[in-house]
Amino acid sequence: MSAAAPMRLLLADLAATRRFGGALARALRPGDLVALSGELGVGKSELVRAVVRSLAGAPLEVPSPTFTLVQRYELPGLVLTHADLYRIRDPLELEELGFEEALFEGALLVEWPERAGSWLSAERLDLTLAFAPEKGEHARWLTLQGALSWGERIARLVDEARL
Ligand SMILES: Nc1ncnc2c1ncn2[C@@H]1O[C@H](COP(=O)(O)OP(=O)(O)OP(=O)(O)O)[C@@H](O)[C@H]1O
Ligand SMILES: [Mg+2]
Repeated sequence: MSAAAPMRLLLADLAATRRFGGALARALRPGDLVALSGELGVGKSELVRAVVRSLAGAPLEVPSPTFTLVQRYELPGLVLTHADLYRIRDPLELEELGFEEALFEGALLVEWPERAGSWLSAERLDLTLAFAPEKGEHARWLTLQGALSWGERIARLVDEARL
């Protein structure tokens, strides 16, 4: 299935990343897969933290699942699973992480999705964070590209995050 053209958004600082996380939290539905790419330390976990806290309505502890690989949050209105595949060496290891169930019961946000090869469904939202040193130390470029089914939701997300 062909995808819509990518959109790019400047996140000027951590507060902007958190605002975008709030908008994403409102957009997410059960069955949604979000792939989060970008270099080490660019802010993927911060973005997930903002999504979780926004849904929880409280400053829950949201550790990076670098070692546990998967963290599951039962939040009001949505079960959210946060995975970090950095330490995965073979996509076969993914079969034990319970992604099918995670997508059946809720939304799944995956850091280092490139470690999964072609294992992750193409029916997803790809978010890529990049450092934007020309815009300041804490600035990030966010690129959004979704499968066709995400089309309108992406435009709404970008509008909301720009407010
Ligand atoms: N605009 C921003 N968005 C997100 N994080 C930011 C921003 N500005 C500064 N930061 C800082 O950058 C760091 C991002 O760390 P984080 O753990 O989220 O990165 P990551 O992409 O998940 O890395 P890893 O690949 O190691 O999991 C945090 O210390 C955060 O405070
Ligand atoms: Mg991380």
